[in-house]
Amino acid sequence: MKKPLVMITGASAGIGASVARRFAAENYPLALTARRQDKLEELQKELKTQTAIYTLDVTDSDAVAKAMAQIEHEQGPIGILVNNAGLALGLEPAYDAKISDWDTCVDTNIKGLLYCTRAVLPLMVQRNSGHIVNLGSIAGTYPYPGGNVYGATKAFVHQFSLNLRADLLGTKVRVSCIEPGLTGGTEFSVVRFRGDAEKAQNLYKNTEALLPEDIAEAIYFCCTLPPHVNINTIEMMPVAQASSALNVHRH
Ligand SMILES: NC(=O)c1ccc[n+]([C@@H]2O[C@H](COP(=O)([O-])OP(=O)(O)OC[C@H]3O[C@@H](n4cnc5c(N)ncnc54)[C@H](OP(=O)(O)O)[C@@H]3O)[C@@H](O)[C@H]2O)c1
Repeated sequence: MKKPLVMITGASAGIGASVARRFAAENYPLALTARRQDKLEELQKELKTQTAIYTLDVTDSDAVAKAMAQIEHEQGPIGILVNNAGLALGLEPAYDAKISDWDTCVDTNIKGLLYCTRAVLPLMVQRNSGHIVNLGSIAGTYPYPGGNVYGATKAFVHQFSLNLRADLLGTKVRVSCIEPGLTGGTEFSVVRFRGDAEKAQNLYKNTEALLPEDIAEAIYFCCTLPPHVNINTIEMMPVAQASSALNVHRH
């Protein structure tokens, strides 16, 4: 049977690139998108499966609609959409955070994910098949200092994923939300700390974080279960991470 086309946003690095590698290993055709064309080209050269690349900024709603139409036209129906593009900017408390960082975070993690989903969803419903995989985070469930807007965007992704399932009941379209904890080997913290690689690295020092490959494996698992099974949410953490007691401030 022909394998469905997997479209991945933010495939130029980290988890997105690992998801591409995981599906490529099973010969799925791929449509990879991100803003950095050079990184996509490198990945395209590495992969042995049919891989098309498209430069796309998910915060541009017109560009998303155009890219989705182009991908469907040139590569065929999108069977699996992995809404992976996302970021956190800064770790300041809300009263010190930059509004422009909040705007970027909301525009990417919420609005970008909405644009991509809305563009492909009617086609999936029409075909009565498809799978949308959204990248949430444990930050959407467990608060931490400085997580303010980033965590809130991921809480949105969690609830939006569940609400999509409510709308899709009666169709064969599946929706899963993958919510990882501390994941090393990506550019996430370098982006968050505005290029400060040392600060980013310290976060993963002397511990064993999840790897992008672990997240890719969970996504591959969700997408390859029998068609009557829908994984709603996967919350995953490294064994070295756990939630802790609530904090109390004392005089
Ligand atoms: N790393 C973690 O600890 C962790 C934990 C839980 C959840 N997550 C989530 O997992 C997802 C992937 O993160 P990661 O750790 O793999 O980070 P990463 O290595 O920084 O990758 C992020 C990807 O998103 C893309 N991206 C960012 N803004 C974009 C935009 N406006 N349009 C299109 N693409 C954009 C980047 O590509 P370009 O710069 O080339 O556009 C890059 O490929 C995110 O949604 C993140 O919130 C990460």
